Amino acid sequence: MTQKHDKIAQDLQEVILEGYSEKFKNEFLKPKNIGKIKDSDSYVSITGVCGDTLEIYLVIRDGKISDIKFITDGCGATITCASYVTRTAKGKSLEEALRIKPEDVDKYFEGLPEEHKHCAKLAVITLTAAIEKYRNKLNKQMNRAKAKISRRKHRAK
Ligand code: FES
Repeated sequence: MTQKHDKIAQDLQEVILEGYSEKFKNEFLKPKNIGKIKDSDSYVSITGVCGDTLEIYLVIRDGKISDIKFITDGCGATITCASYVTRTAKGKSLEEALRIKPEDVDKYFEGLPEEHKHCAKLAVITLTAAIEKYRNKLNKQMNRAKAKISRRKHRAK
């Protein structure tokens, strides 16, 4: 890229990010956890009210989120909110991660513009759905194991 192009890109960025906090700008410029996880323990894809979709992948070890990634076709605010939500959830227990609320995201970024508050909601809703899906899968596995044990006990009588 030429110096002129660099300047245009920089000016564009400033216009796009006008009115956002420094924290938001930093997260927007260096988002974390973008990507997919092959063989994840849970994966969900949620489409928000605006039609944008966010996908979250989870790896759970010893009841904690050991890895988490996301992809989206959404706006910059969705990428930024998902980056914050995923890096906040990483390393936390499922219960702790479920305590993350859209208001926390909004507060961290010192107030998202009204038209982008739903981006924070989409990030939190998708994380919650991925955790719930994992829990449901675990419950089903436990119920199947219990049923198997009880069938064996029954046959042994
Ligand atoms: S999630 Fe739709 S505009 Fe951000």
